[in-house]
Amino acid sequence: MRIFVINGPNLNLLGRREVAIYGHKTYADLEAYIRVEAKALGLSADVRQSNHEGVLLDWLHETFRIKVAGVLINPGALTHYSYALRDAIKALDVPVYEVHLSDIKQREETFRHHSVIADVCADSFSGHGFESYKAALVALSEALQKSE
Ligand code: DQA
Repeated sequence: MRIFVINGPNLNLLGRREVAIYGHKTYADLEAYIRVEAKALGLSADVRQSNHEGVLLDWLHETFRIKVAGVLINPGALTHYSYALRDAIKALDVPVYEVHLSDIKQREETFRHHSVIADVCADSFSGHGFESYKAALVALSEALQKSE
């Protein structure tokens, strides 16, 4: 089953960006990790990253045209203020899982504590680095098995 894993602004800078928070592994490492973990669950992950909000919206809308079983999304800072992303996620007819590497609720800047997409997502996974993605993949896979 094909799924989308959509990563937003600045995630391409993994490995060189705030390494105390996000770690030393690169975005290429993250993509490889997601593909391997998805495959182990019988899922084929189409992993994408863009720094542009509109591109993220177009990818979400693409799930209306092509067969995709579910979506994982880490919208980066857009998490905290993009009502356009929120509306798009709400419109989809496939489950969407929110993912963050860091624990947004424990971060220093208070604007990060709130996610405007959390309540329109099936679930949220935050604070476990790459393993946040694995937890979301497992949750999506279990939900898909239940709905079969
Ligand atoms: C992030 C958390 C966001 O607050 C931040 O803007 C990011 C990354 C995370 O994965 O922890 O860019 O989504």
